[in-house]
Amino acid sequence: MKSGIFITFEGIDGSGKTTQITALIQHLDEAGIPYQLFREPGGTGIGEKVRDILLDKNNDSMLSMTELLLYSASRYQLTKSQIIPALESGKVVICDRFYDSSTAYQGYGRGIDLDFIMRLNAAATDSLVPDKTFILDISLEERHLRLDNKNLDRLEQEALDFHKRVHDGFLKMAAIEPERFIVLEGNRNPEELSNEIWETVKTLKELINK
Ligand code: TYD
Repeated sequence: MKSGIFITFEGIDGSGKTTQITALIQHLDEAGIPYQLFREPGGTGIGEKVRDILLDKNNDSMLSMTELLLYSASRYQLTKSQIIPALESGKVVICDRFYDSSTAYQGYGRGIDLDFIMRLNAAATDSLVPDKTFILDISLEERHLRLDNKNLDRLEQEALDFHKRVHDGFLKMAAIEPERFIVLEGNRNPEELSNEIWETVKTLKELINK
């Protein structure tokens, strides 16, 4: 049975997830709390190969359903072989994106039926649900400034209205499940943000381990 804590980070590209995940890990290190960090797509040998296919700019003929199934395939491999065992051993597991990204990008963004995605998400995760999901929210203008001049991957180079649907999708999802999601304004002071995230994770850990 699961005894660890499962934390996921979500948000549009450029939202500052990496900075906040790095800060959280530093806090966990300092507190001597065992953790494991994964990213999606990827996190396993098979998953990293799937990641390369998904992000490759040459794969511009990829159909939306193919895309969804590939993300889900990578997720199943990661969940069963890494995330669940780490949780069972009592660790804090942090995942840089999880099934909420499929709902936001392939559901709200690409327009695949949301009920179907919900069922697929459950199948691809063995019905594992994160204990807390932080959404780092930045505006599309801010995203544009942050990603400017970067070498963009296949998803990042999608049109602005796609990213607007993804952005708005994340906020709708947070409104539907307010007890799981915490939406944080991504252009706030990074240290202030990381302290807030750390307080939430610490409290959650105390609650779960009581
Ligand atoms: P990555 O370089 O990890 O981006 P980021 O640093 O923003 O997380 O690339 C992952 C890309 O894949 C990102 O554009 C979001 C997209 N994605 C989906 O479209 N669906 C999914 O289910 C997942 C996990 C990611």
